[in-house]
Amino acid sequence: MKIMGRLELTVLFLLFSIWVAADGYDPLDPTGNITIQWDIVTWIDDYYEAVVSIYNFQQYRHVESPGWKLGWEWRGSEAIKEMIGAEATEQGDCSWFKGPLLPHCCEKMPEIVDLLPESPYHMRNANCCKGAVLSSMTQNPLQYKASFKMGIMKAPLHNDTKLIIPKNFSIGLPGYTCGSPFTVAPTKYRGDGGRRWMQSFSTWEVTCTYSQRRAFRYPTCCVSLSVFYSETIVECSRCSCGCQGVGTKCVNPGDSPPALLFPHGDEVVPPVVSCTQHMCLIRVHWHVKQNYMGYWRVKMTVTNLNFAKNYTSWNIVVQHPSLQGIVQVFNLQYRSLNPYDKTINDTGMFWGNPFYNDILLQSGEDGNIQAELLLKKDPGMFTFKDGWTFPRRLYFDGDECVIPPPDRYPRIPVHHYSTGFSLYYIF
Ligand SMILES: *[C@@H]1O[C@H](CO)[C@@H](O)[C@H](O)[C@H]1NC(C)=O
Ligand SMILES: *[C@@H]1O[C@H](CO)[C@@H](O)[C@H](O)[C@H]1NC(C)=O
Ligand SMILES: *[C@@H]1O[C@H](CO)[C@@H](O)[C@H](O)[C@H]1NC(C)=O
Ligand SMILES: *[C@@H]1O[C@H](CO)[C@@H](O)[C@H](O)[C@H]1NC(C)=O
Ligand SMILES: *[C@@H]1O[C@H](CO)[C@@H](O)[C@H](O)[C@H]1NC(C)=O
Repeated sequence: MKIMGRLELTVLFLLFSIWVAADGYDPLDPTGNITIQWDIVTWIDDYYEAVVSIYNFQQYRHVESPGWKLGWEWRGSEAIKEMIGAEATEQGDCSWFKGPLLPHCCEKMPEIVDLLPESPYHMRNANCCKGAVLSSMTQNPLQYKASFKMGIMKAPLHNDTKLIIPKNFSIGLPGYTCGSPFTVAPTKYRGDGGRRWMQSFSTWEVTCTYSQRRAFRYPTCCVSLSVFYSETIVECSRCSCGCQGVGTKCVNPGDSPPALLFPHGDEVVPPVVSCTQHMCLIRVHWHVKQNYMGYWRVKMTVTNLNFAKNYTSWNIVVQHPSLQGIVQVFNLQYRSLNPYDKTINDTGMFWGNPFYNDILLQSGEDGNIQAELLLKKDPGMFTFKDGWTFPRRLYFDGDECVIPPPDRYPRIPVHHYSTGFSLYYIF
């Protein structure tokens, strides 16, 4: 009995560790994270100045409006004397302060939000004021960093050589959790017109990671499949993103969605989805369209079934072995991601062209975007059998889409099977 008990405990513990390890780990972006960097640039007694930078070190997951909201908890009775490039949402109780200009924020757990792009010059610093929106590293390498500067008073010391850094950081984005701050080598930056390297006094970092499981109860996106030699369209599986009549409300075709549910200004509204058997907000249709001698062609259609949202800077990540032979992408931008040191080139990212199709409009007539891919056949790999031509994994805006199981894939017609190679060569 005793041994059994211990064994069960071990198994439970193992399962738990696997679950914890799987949580927050994305195999297509294994090092993806949001890093908060806390640079101490000057320090006099109990006053110091810090430059806080937020880096979105993720290949394809972006931070969209209303964006990040940084929080932490002071260890002592610190207050933020002044701040540029961002602002605290509450000033808090600064009544203890004697002086003409009250501190910017005296909250024990301040909450910092970004300024808007049009904010006045005297409130800005480098890399600030992006309305809390951050691009992914791939999609716009100039827009994945945010930064603000603040002066902190009444900072406690650990001992004579160390300032105490706040704890319990949070980034205010669904699905993200942040770890504890740790010291890293001081940040170096250019001074004197680039002729001199300067460095901050000391630098701390906090790493925040994303988990889809923490962000949503259900997936938000699904994949449907079809291929030119079969009439069958494999629709998204039933209840991929929840079931009709449970939880999320849906709008039937022909009915107009309630206007109350539309966003006013910056607020986040719950999705209003078109009623389907799968109940997903986004459907990606993968159609194997044509077969040539040495190439094959896929048509991808992304459909927005959410009436309450336009997806800005949307992107799709696809894992398929044929992507290493991608020849041309029509209508979208493409970049190979190669998360594992270029040993496997089976993952790539697609996104819209600015001012043309970088916004996926709300559900309706214009709520879809189409693209085509021309792929080279690798004779050692390529086959129409067993759904090889279908994607292995597909993400929309960084969240994994539900792909129908292999037993639902369309079958190759028998006469093609019997003539063996015909499908490969004749078309
Ligand atoms: C966070 O991302 C950076 C940049 O890709 C990487 O150097 C770092 O190791 C990552 N941190 C973790 C904990 O994965
Ligand atoms: C000061 O703190 C550092 C690191 O936390 C530690 O290594 C060092 O021994 C401390 N010094 C004293 C005098 O306590
Ligand atoms: C950390 O902060 C969150 C809210 O920001 C709060 O709910 C939680 O209790 C805090 N945790 C600790 C250990 O203080
Ligand atoms: C989406 O964009 C269109 C066109 O710009 C606009 O008319 C519509 O109100 C927007 N919808 C939402 C939900 O923001
Ligand atoms: C993957 O792509 C990179 C650059 O595009 C190339 O250098 C590398 O050889 C490729 N690896 C394989 C296994 O095809």
